Amino acid sequence: MYTLIDGKKVASDIRREISEEVAKIKKEGGKVPNLVTILVGDNASSQSYVANKLKDCQEVGFESSLVKYDTDISESEVLGKIAELNADEHVDGFIVQLPLPDHISEHRVIEAIDPSKDADGFHPVNIGRMTIGLPSYLPATPYGILELIKRYNIPTAGKRCVVVGRSNIVGRPVSILMSRKGIDATVTVAHSRTPNIGALLLEADIVIAALGIPGFVKADMIKHGAAVIDVGTTRVSCDDLPRGWRLKGDVDFENVAPKCSFITPVPGGVGPMTRVALLKNTLMAAKLKSSNR
Ligand code: GUN
Repeated sequence: MYTLIDGKKVASDIRREISEEVAKIKKEGGKVPNLVTILVGDNASSQSYVANKLKDCQEVGFESSLVKYDTDISESEVLGKIAELNADEHVDGFIVQLPLPDHISEHRVIEAIDPSKDADGFHPVNIGRMTIGLPSYLPATPYGILELIKRYNIPTAGKRCVVVGRSNIVGRPVSILMSRKGIDATVTVAHSRTPNIGALLLEADIVIAALGIPGFVKADMIKHGAAVIDVGTTRVSCDDLPRGWRLKGDVDFENVAPKCSFITPVPGGVGPMTRVALLKNTLMAAKLKSSNR
């Protein structure tokens, strides 16, 4: 029998912890954390992620606001806004929702963010600090995955972990964190050019699937007793729901779950944890700022 990892519950517990901290800051006359989100264009998933992030901020008592641009906004205007937010004393952290339209360079945008306000932990300075084990903002999804692994006491030391996917947002950073001292997994990163991913996965004690192909990980690729973390959130059509779609993960859940020790569902697994990680980073940014005043 497997344990179903309840990301929704863990995220709700963490939001409660954060709310309590915010209440304390307020009581002591401190500054409430303030997160700004920049959204460019009308990508449906991005709009829904951003709406949820704003809702989360409200729930824990943060200040938050949205800067929304049409798809055809120029890169220089976005960079100008970033410079403004970098200089704004009242803003503790901000994020630029990805993906961006093709005419805007993701790299230039991320590198323009002041690393001390980089609530997503995407800036090369934060990625570098994370890589060598210095305190830093951690990218939201990897942070969320780690927190689930810790709170469910999933054994990691000396275990074989296979990460499928090498994105800058999930695959690459989570592979670095899983091999960190204290977590101590032996990590392999598989990607679109890796031959026979199934055979690699069969040796894994921990599988982190972050490739964005719904149902890619099948039961015959999974070792008995493996822990499986599903990061996929593809919208697939579903006539049974009025909105016409549902989220589907990268793992064939129904057939894989019976072989697992632990498994995350989609939705309700990693997703809620990603959102809560952003709150954690924003709180840390606000605290660091007030301690430097
Ligand atoms: N797009 C998908 N995930 C993320 C995320 O964690 N942060 C940002 N900024 N954009 C994303």
